[in-house]
Amino acid sequence: MLSPKQLSSIEANPYKADFPLLAKHPEIVFLDSAATSQRPAVVLDAERSFYENMNANPLRGLYRLSVEATASIEEARKHAAAFIGAVDEAGKPQGSEIVFTRNASESLNLVAHTLPQLVDLGPGDDVVISIMEHHSNIIPWQQVCKATGANLVYLRLDDSYTITPEEIEAKIGPSAKIVSVTHVSNVLGVENDVAAIANRAHQMGAVMVVDGAQSVPHIKVDVHDLGCDLLAFSAHKMGGPMGIGVLWGKASLLDALPPFLTGGEMIDTVTETSAVWAPVPHKFEAGTQDAAGSYAFDAALGYLTRQDMNVLEERERLLATYLTDQLDALDFVSIVGPRDGSRHIGAVSFNVQDVHPHDVASILDMGDVCIRAGHHCAQPLLTYLGEQSTCRASIAFYNDKSDIDALVEGLKNVWQVFHG
Ligand SMILES: Cc1ncc(COP(=O)(O)O)c(C=O)c1O
Repeated sequence: MLSPKQLSSIEANPYKADFPLLAKHPEIVFLDSAATSQRPAVVLDAERSFYENMNANPLRGLYRLSVEATASIEEARKHAAAFIGAVDEAGKPQGSEIVFTRNASESLNLVAHTLPQLVDLGPGDDVVISIMEHHSNIIPWQQVCKATGANLVYLRLDDSYTITPEEIEAKIGPSAKIVSVTHVSNVLGVENDVAAIANRAHQMGAVMVVDGAQSVPHIKVDVHDLGCDLLAFSAHKMGGPMGIGVLWGKASLLDALPPFLTGGEMIDTVTETSAVWAPVPHKFEAGTQDAAGSYAFDAALGYLTRQDMNVLEERERLLATYLTDQLDALDFVSIVGPRDGSRHIGAVSFNVQDVHPHDVASILDMGDVCIRAGHHCAQPLLTYLGEQSTCRASIAFYNDKSDIDALVEGLKNVWQVFHG
């Protein structure tokens, strides 16, 4: 339960005005930020400004526009590195550890196509993932295991939706060569103890990959604290444009990995029969990059940094607590996941008794309440939980108490329509 002071802090909303879609359409109750976030005006302005003032193919030209476009990518890299704590001992952001991709899925595919070669994955080796992965962190590893003969091993959850220390110890053993786990579940909203998993992975000599698609937008992530080797996330879930993703990796590991996509821009020299790769991160960025996208992503990072991620995280925790409290109070609604709101980062899944989630979402949509319904690209998790689909409301800092109240009123209406 929130205190009156906490309630009044989520009643206030100093953020909505920064988001043109929300400001222009006050009737829209947007509770699907786990799928993609809304974008602040500074991001929209930046994308347009790039094409109006800096448009040229980066990396190719020696003229001012192209040099500026190239510099803007490198600036975005530095800010992305700083945002996730990828800094050296003197606090200098390590831009060269940031690879731009199209999205978290592509970042994970890059890893799945290159890391198995480096670690010489083969029969008898384990790739360990968790049962709460998004398909983007399952399918690439299924393919890898089929191709190499390695085993795909799942970390499972206990009744409190936790991957326990015992489970970590039991499943990550000496055969583990790659461990790839989501930081925060896109269905349950729960955070995994990635530092403990990384610690065990490293003790066993495995490489630790983290899917940060649902954590980096919501909580202060520090790659050194997580102890991971590689981290994937998407700009479009954190106020940035669609089409830009990030793969962060330790410099020595990125250096050692073979390239993923090949072609222009990712080479130093080419002969008729061979090529020498460009240094990282360019080795992983074949072809013309989305320079306007990374420029706009940089604006999103700037926006989040100015708001202060710690402040945003605290607000989102209050919103999640209010959301779970309100859902829990409806006797026809059951939460799929912890009932304790403080365990939810962004997402809360639930079901309405005897009403299909698609019907729930469609009726809510009639009142302009946007939620997600389905398997949320996490079918193995839903099967494990004995569900086929759920409703999912997911929040961001630009939501407020009135959004959650509108959801609750909408759910009462759903109940009336089916059972009234
Ligand atoms: C946990 C998680 N990982 C990966 C992804 C894939 O992100 P993208 O679609 O941006 O590649 C998502 C998207 O919802 C996600 O929630």
